[in-house]
Amino acid sequence: MFMRTVIEADDGRVIPVLTMGPIGITPELKRQGYGKKLLDCCLEKATALGFGAVLFEGNIGFYGHCGFTYARSFGIRYHDLPEGADDSFFLCKELIPGYLDGITGVYRTPKGYYVDDADVEEFDKAFPPKEKLRLPGQIF
Ligand SMILES: CC(C)(COP(=O)(O)OP(=O)(O)OC[C@H]1O[C@@H](n2cnc3c(N)ncnc32)[C@H](O)[C@@H]1OP(=O)(O)O)[C@@H](O)C(=O)NCCC(=O)NCCS
Repeated sequence: MFMRTVIEADDGRVIPVLTMGPIGITPELKRQGYGKKLLDCCLEKATALGFGAVLFEGNIGFYGHCGFTYARSFGIRYHDLPEGADDSFFLCKELIPGYLDGITGVYRTPKGYYVDDADVEEFDKAFPPKEKLRLPGQIF
C-alpha cells in the first residue's frame, strides 16, 4: 500500500512524496525473488503516476536491492527523531531523478499510520485469537 505524505522543507516548501508498506511474501515463497519483483513492479506504477520519491522505515538489506538508500543522504530527516539517534531505518528512493535536489527537511509519517493501541486491541477481539510469533525472514 502506498500513501501520500510530505516533506516539510527547511525553506518552507511542502514537497509531496509517497510512503509505502507493509509488504509481505508468504513464508514458503521467500528468498525466491518475489519480494523484489513485487516492489519493483509497484515502484514502476508509482513512477508512471508521476510521483517523485518514496520514503519509509525499512531494512536496507532487502530494500537496497530495489534502489533505496538512506534518506539522510538526501538531506531528509525523520520526524521526532532525537539529534544523533540511529536513522539507518529511514530509507528513500527518488522515482524522478533529482526530485529531491536542493531540498532538505523533515519527513512526516501520514496520520493514517497512527493508531490507538486500545482501538487495535478492541478490533482484534472480533477475530479468533492468534499467538504473536516472530518468524524467520521477518525484518521488523
Ligand atoms: C522482506 C520480504 C518482503 C522479502 O521478500 P523475498 O521475496 O523473500 O525477498 P527476495 O527474494 O526478493 O530478496 C531479494 C534480496 O533481498 C535481500 N533480502 C531478502 N530478505 C531479506 C531479509 N529478511 N533481511 C535482509 N535481506 C533480505 C536478499 O539479499 C535477497 O537476495 P538473495 O536471496 O539473493 O540474497 C519477505 O521476507 C517478507 O515477507 N518478510 C516478512 C514481512 C516483512 O518483514 N516485511 C518488511 C517490512 S514491511
